[in-house]
Amino acid sequence: MTDSPSAETRSESAAASGDGDRTADPTAGTAAAPNGKTSAATTDAPGEMTDQAHRPFSPGLEGVIAGETSLSFIDGARGRLLYRGYRIGDLVAHGSYAAVANLLWTGTWDRSARLPTGAVPDAVITTLRALPQTTKPMDALRTAVSAWGSTQELPWPPTVEQARALTAFSPSALAAFARIRAGQEPIEPDPALDLTAGYLYQLTGTRPEPETARALDAYFIVGAEHGFNASTFTARVITSTRSDLASAVVGAIGTMKGPLHGGAPSEVVDQLAQVGSPEHAEAWIREALARGERLMGFGHRVYRAYDPRAAALRTVAEGMEHKPEWLQLAIAVEDVALRILAEKHPDRPLKTNVEYYAAPVLMGVGLTPDLFPATFSLARHAGWTAHALEQAANNRLIRPDVNYVGPGERDLPA
Ligand code: ACO
Repeated sequence: MTDSPSAETRSESAAASGDGDRTADPTAGTAAAPNGKTSAATTDAPGEMTDQAHRPFSPGLEGVIAGETSLSFIDGARGRLLYRGYRIGDLVAHGSYAAVANLLWTGTWDRSARLPTGAVPDAVITTLRALPQTTKPMDALRTAVSAWGSTQELPWPPTVEQARALTAFSPSALAAFARIRAGQEPIEPDPALDLTAGYLYQLTGTRPEPETARALDAYFIVGAEHGFNASTFTARVITSTRSDLASAVVGAIGTMKGPLHGGAPSEVVDQLAQVGSPEHAEAWIREALARGERLMGFGHRVYRAYDPRAAALRTVAEGMEHKPEWLQLAIAVEDVALRILAEKHPDRPLKTNVEYYAAPVLMGVGLTPDLFPATFSLARHAGWTAHALEQAANNRLIRPDVNYVGPGERDLPA
């Protein structure tokens, strides 16, 4: 087991100073024209290409190893996800979000770890009240974390204490926003409740049944961490500049807001509503695919096997007392969808992903679909902040190069 270095042992690499701006200078007479071709407008011999034009380039950085982590291991071929070596299914069955967050931050497994929600500073409440009525929850959360950052001392390097404070703050802030937009007053944290129970209490004003809080806790565990996804990479880039933890998480929330990343399980809800009943599933799916649509909750960039997070959440959803009526529909539609996807894509396994069974769990605990993406962001706070700690512990400014494909050096028009 590799422990995350403690705050005391963290030291930034001496090599990390400077802005690392080592991009070849196109004015130095070596610039390549668009598409690697030479331009007639260049004033110098354009036959010389820069060495950067010949270096490998992977659009979207796909397949590029951009760092090292001891936080999670994703085995897409075998459908395995490990946090610091521990199987996600075991963490869901025997752990808590507080224990998993603590594991990610410190490297230590402490089943009794606690993490109540935190207080929301007055400045943040004032900020949330000033937002337009139409504000989306992801925008509100991003704004709240930014405002929170301005109320805190967050010196470099980030610490476990900072990570804990920010992770505890955000559920209270999102709950406060949800109540303010509904014309209700925010509710103070109850220190007796752990983070997911506290979040539901501060949203609704009612302390949740243990079974309901447990279901949301399971969702938070599977959402806590997932390698170098786009928002986590954003958090690491920001941290690598020695910026503060709040800034790293603000950037991460902004990245997760994009539909290509935050992937709303609310779309699973919409799609199942359109299917309507198990007997319509086959016809609906075939028509949707014929229209070129994608089935929400299926397929993944990394997993070729059944997403282990989906498996864990399906078990949770099936065990819930207040499961949405359409859970049985979802299970029936899944079988049909997997069969048709296998038929259409015999060479590319397209299996159920985490979003499919996140939807019934989130519905079942009483969240409205518009809160799903921001709630996913709350869960991912543990991973984002753990990656910030890991980045800072062995920091080097993240500053890749880019291939210049613009015009070669030329004179301004007269
Ligand atoms: N339904 C139907 N066909 C699909 C689906 C799907 N859900 N996913 C992929 N395919 C097909 C594509 O049409 C493509 O077919 P083609 O080769 O005939 O053109 C082939 O499978 C490969 O698709 P890519 O887009 O290259 O696969 P990629 O790995 O880039 O996509 C993604 C992954 C974005 C998740 C995709 O599977 C998808 O759009 N799924 C639906 C949305 C969804 O569930 N998102 C949540 C993902 S989990 C998460 O973000 C936490």
